[in-house]
Amino acid sequence: MSKKKLKRFAELTAFPNVFQSLVDLRGKWCSDYFHNDNPIVLELACGRGEYTVALAQRFGEKNFIGIDIKGARLWRGAKEALEFKLANVAFLRIPIESIANWFAPDEIAEIWITFPDPFLREGKARKRLTSPRFLSLYRQVLKPGGVIHLKTDEPNLFAYTQEMVAAEEGVLHEAIDDLYHSDKIDDVLSIQTNYERKHLEVGRTIRYLRFSFLP
Ligand SMILES: C[S@@+](CC[C@H](N)C(=O)[O-])C[C@H]1O[C@@H](n2cnc3c(N)ncnc32)[C@H](O)[C@@H]1O
Repeated sequence: MSKKKLKRFAELTAFPNVFQSLVDLRGKWCSDYFHNDNPIVLELACGRGEYTVALAQRFGEKNFIGIDIKGARLWRGAKEALEFKLANVAFLRIPIESIANWFAPDEIAEIWITFPDPFLREGKARKRLTSPRFLSLYRQVLKPGGVIHLKTDEPNLFAYTQEMVAAEEGVLHEAIDDLYHSDKIDDVLSIQTNYERKHLEVGRTIRYLRFSFLP
């Protein structure tokens, strides 16, 4: 492992806004960590946490938690949040599979999934972050009607997710198959992640879905 990565891992353990092993905050994130009653928004597969940080800057009346398993990526978002003194941000270095251990039912208001690995091979479908297994996990922690946003460059994942939403009797609010050539692009949808910038550089099309599930 590179010296830079080792240094980042060491720093991560000392960051007050990063959690890597289970803490007693389930059901108590607002009261015991954020010290407010504001809605909590998750960014899953957050990488460097661009959405977490940018949304936290725009929406001080909400709390944001970025989740990813890769510490060296998450380090950047956590560091920025500390530098910008963003008290409405936290990061979890955990597998997304474990979110129900971290959040109580109804604790989460909204979820963003930003450029998840598509896992296109049939044998890997269970790993897709919009497979029925993961959608069911999100429903465990989301408030009734809580919205899920997906940004992806991958047409197959875009189509697959719409099929899964329909199969689970969800409500599709928006399906944009070319975000940057639509009239829907705005201050939030134009936030760009590291992977998104790379996709745009090679001319890929960015897609966006917003959906929810009935209580
Ligand atoms: C393609 S990257 C996208 C990162 C970032 N959202 C971006 O757009 O730049 C996908 C990320 O998902 C994370 N990831 C994939 N499966 C995960 C899981 N089950 N639990 C936690 N993180 C996961 C990876 O570590 C990786 O950082």
